[in-house]
Amino acid sequence: MKKLNIGVIGYGFMGRTHSNAYRQVSKFFETEYEPVLKVACARNEERLKSFARNWGYESYETDWRRLIERDDVDAIDIAAPNNMHRDIAIAAAEAGKMVLCEKPLGRNPEESREMVQAGGKGGVPNLVWFNYRFVPAVALAKNIVQSGKLGRIFHYRANFLQDWTIDADLPQGGEGLWRLDVDAAGSGVTGDLLAHCIDTAMWINGPIASVTAMTETFIKERMHQDTGNVEKVGIDDACAFLARFANGSLAIFESTRYARGHKALYTFEINGENASITWDLHDLHRLSYFDYADDKAVRGWRSIHVSNAGGEHPYMDKWWVPGLNIGYEHSFTHGAFHFLKSLEGEEGERAFPTFADALQTDKVCAAVLESGSSRKWQEV
Ligand SMILES: NC(=O)c1ccc[n+]([C@@H]2O[C@H](COP(=O)([O-])OP(=O)(O)OC[C@H]3O[C@@H](n4cnc5c(N)ncnc54)[C@H](O)[C@@H]3O)[C@@H](O)[C@H]2O)c1
Repeated sequence: MKKLNIGVIGYGFMGRTHSNAYRQVSKFFETEYEPVLKVACARNEERLKSFARNWGYESYETDWRRLIERDDVDAIDIAAPNNMHRDIAIAAAEAGKMVLCEKPLGRNPEESREMVQAGGKGGVPNLVWFNYRFVPAVALAKNIVQSGKLGRIFHYRANFLQDWTIDADLPQGGEGLWRLDVDAAGSGVTGDLLAHCIDTAMWINGPIASVTAMTETFIKERMHQDTGNVEKVGIDDACAFLARFANGSLAIFESTRYARGHKALYTFEINGENASITWDLHDLHRLSYFDYADDKAVRGWRSIHVSNAGGEHPYMDKWWVPGLNIGYEHSFTHGAFHFLKSLEGEEGERAFPTFADALQTDKVCAAVLESGSSRKWQEV
């Protein structure tokens, strides 16, 4: 097998999911390339060393610029906060490295556009980790819609609900809480959570043409961990928007970190002329399906356990036996698989979003935020 030497930047939540994916992928999927955990990178040396040891990295670097200079690294994986994405991705692409970047690609379309250009100029393979595409039930939903079973699509509905920022004493900025600092994050729930919903929606139902949104920042000021001062909060705590897809279907999207009781309730529903689909991240192996063509006596919502291993259910032939579950972490393994396969020149395997795809999502996010302040419909 050919070796693909990876340098991962960030040992937080995503640093762990990506490391796990690289370790798993070649054990379960047939690929010409095998990822090698070559270098882990972050600033805190003690914690970095422990992370690198735990996951079996061969070495570590405390400065991402040093990582990019290294000749023994083929691909840079960016699992650091959003304000780091642009500089790292551009430097990596200019150094001829492949780049796998966390979402959102940039903090705004301007940053993302620069990243797309750098990726294009360097001709380097690139991926953005919109991992929900690779959940078997979500991939099955895409296959069902693509097969035409739903007929004309009338409605798309998505939510991503959390409740972890309700406490007004929660500070903004710094480790763990950079998501509340607009300079680090770019935006609030729009770029963090709705970006996922938008990516899935456009992947399944095509481009979004226009949007109208309402956004709210419920807690207007929070102590900033970097300065110790109480500062204005610049992120959107909640966002709901209506959208029109280019194909004429209508959509409603909602996201908040103030929905008491919800931790990561990502759901979507698609209503077509002949059939409907719903999916819920809290029960990620199941796809609910309603088919109007069913015999009237038994017509109703069926709950499909997406675990057939005969090829009907995406990815499941590579794991255990029918009926057994896989989890959240496997979506990253599937993303890594698609990326490795694309290096073999198999166009059909490019089921993952590239920088160029993620730029489209960023443009929708920007139109949503713009509409949130202008209170007008916004073309994307
Ligand atoms: N695909 C998904 O579902 C998903 C889920 C969570 C986060 N994310 C994205 O992943 C990225 C990271 O989020 P997270 O939740 O893992 O954050 P985190 O706070 O858990 O981890 C961030 C990591 O980046 C490191 N870091 C920060 N600044 C750095 C620098 N200058 N140089 C080197 N390392 C640096 C930190 O040390 C930390 O290890 C964000 O872009 C986020 O939007 C995506």
